[in-house]
Order: sequence, then structure tokens, then C-alpha cells
Amino acid sequence: MPLDAQKNAPLVDAFGRAVTYLRMSVTDRCDLRCTYCMAEHMVFLPKKDLLSLDEMARLADAFIRRGVRKLRLTGGEPLVRRGVMDLMGDLSKHLRTGALDELTLTTNGTQLARHAEALARLGVRRVNVSLDTLDPARYAAITRLGSIEKVLEGLDAAQSAGLSVKLNALASRGPFEAEVDDLIRFAHGRDMDLTLIEEMPMGATGLNRSDSFLALDDLRMALAQRWAMTNLRHTTGGPARYVRLAETGGRLGFISPMSCNFCALCNRVRLSATGRLYTCMGQEGSVDLKPALRGDKAQLGPLLRKAIAAKPRGHDFESQSVSQPSVRRFMSDLGG
Ligand code: 5AD
Ligand code: SF4
Repeated sequence: MPLDAQKNAPLVDAFGRAVTYLRMSVTDRCDLRCTYCMAEHMVFLPKKDLLSLDEMARLADAFIRRGVRKLRLTGGEPLVRRGVMDLMGDLSKHLRTGALDELTLTTNGTQLARHAEALARLGVRRVNVSLDTLDPARYAAITRLGSIEKVLEGLDAAQSAGLSVKLNALASRGPFEAEVDDLIRFAHGRDMDLTLIEEMPMGATGLNRSDSFLALDDLRMALAQRWAMTNLRHTTGGPARYVRLAETGGRLGFISPMSCNFCALCNRVRLSATGRLYTCMGQEGSVDLKPALRGDKAQLGPLLRKAIAAKPRGHDFESQSVSQPSVRRFMSDLGG
């Protein structure tokens, strides 16, 4: 193989899984403080520890050259990073060259109204928006800082701009169980997919997760009493399993890392905003790419390859208890 082709050969791990999907956190900050995600008084990273937007673009290029076809920006909240739309603009060139199939982001939606048009113009086709409730008071309580109107405006703007929207809702015991049918009707009534997420034991939030944890297997059984579900094959290479609801015609997804092992098909890796590469969401291990990015650039490729080769077979959330964080990192360090 010529040297260049060798250098840019696809990134394949020791279990034969090719890494084609990169999730990039652009900041650990967020304008909300969701109770399951953050502690009330979070200490964020000093801004100087974050990669510059230019460094992020260069890292993305390095992955794309080696076979990454799908890129998602996350946070924290990606839209609070200053200049993030310039980064999106920069990354969107890969859509036009055909090197990327998809460029997208996961957002809490509070700033989506301002950015939806521009995102659509850049070639973004869909966005994931986190919304756990339709009740303004509960929304304010869960997010500690948020107002639901902003998110609803964001959803309107996204749809008007032609973006498809997937809602992500974190499942929890109590009021959520009573409200989930309304969320389904809301999402499907507006032609949005809805994915229910099982709470993961990440970060010491100061709350006891065993009070809120709801196993999605149980929720799914309860839902099956009220909705006619057909399993769909549709998979994104990720942890979500989808069903179609006969009553709405809409798609409902389940992400249950705690009770279902989805690792065998995992095609993704994550980058923190400081340039650490995490090859498994449920493990502490990571590789710092910053020195290679800032120093000897020739080291970056081999370092990537070495890190991917060591991608763990899977997480071990199952062996942990829900009340103790099995991963000390907060979800906002990597954005899920
Ligand atoms: N477990 C599961 N999902 C979480 N999120 C935040 N913290 C957790 C957690 N501990 C989700 C949010 C959002 C996405 C970015 O991550 O609900 O949808
Ligand atoms: Fe922010 Fe998302 Fe965490 Fe909520 S879940 S605090 S919106 S990063």
C-alpha cells in the first residue's frame, strides 16, 4: 500500500469494528444544569484548557481522512461555545466534498431559534433536542435554569428551517411515567422521532440516582399495554432500538445501556473539548491528543490508530450499582 493510503486507512479496532462516527464535545459548559447531568454548583474547565475551534476542525479532518463519515457536535451545550457556527461552517465543507455523510448536533434547544436557519443552510439535516417534559414547571425544576418556551421556539424554528428533529427524553420514575404518553403524542404529532434514554451512572450529581432510575425494560412493558408497537430494524449503529407505534405512525426509540448490551456494533468514539479521545463512553480510559495536535503533528495519526486499536469491547455498567457513579466524568464532559 502506498504510504499515504496506509496512513489514511480506516480506523478499525481489535474487534473488527470500524470507527465511522465521531462525537465531538466543543465545550463542557451549558446554560442549563439538569439534575441528572450536573451538580448544582458545577466547576467548569478553565477556557484555556479547551481546544481552539481551529484545533477542533483539524482533529475532525484527521478522523474524516481515516474513514469517519458522520460527525456530531455535542457539549455541554454546543451552541454556547462562542464561534461554534464558524466551526460548523468549516466542517460543512466535508459535506460538500462528499467526505462526510452527515454533520449534526445534540442540543438542549435553548438557542436553536437563533441558529436553525444557518444550520440548515450549512447542510445540517437533523438535530437532536433534549426535552424531558412538556410541563413548564417540571422543565424549570429539572433544568434548574431553563424556560421551556425557548425550547419550543427552537423546535418551531428548526422545523420551519426544514431540519428534522429527534427529541431525547431522559426516563425517570414518577411524574415522567405519567407524562410519557403526552410526550409521545407531542413528538409524533409534530413528525418528530422520540427517543427515551435510561439514566446512566455518570458523575456525582449530588442526587441519589436510585431514587430516579427507571429501567426502560419496565417502561417499555408498561407502554406496550397502551400502544401497539412493532419492532423496527432501523438502527444507527448506536444503542437505540426503535419501534413504530400504530396509533401515531411515529417512531419511538429506547436507549438502555444499563439493561441491554449494544457494544458489539459500536462504531463511535468521542472527543472531549480538551482533546481527549474516549473510545468507550462507559469506561474511564482516554488518550490525550492535544500534545500531538500542538507538537509533533506526525504523531497524531499513529496515536489515533493506537487508541482505536485499544477500544474496549464494551462498558460494564451492568456490574455497577445505579446509585454509585461507575464513571466519575459528568455527562456534560462528553455530551452522551
Ligand atoms: N444518563 C443518561 N443520559 C443523560 N443525559 C445527561 N445526563 C445523563 C445521564 N446521567 C442526556 C441528556 C441529553 C443528552 C445529551 O444526555 O438528557 O439528552
Ligand atoms: Fe446541559 Fe444537556 Fe447536561 Fe442538561 S443534560 S445540563 S442541557 S448538558
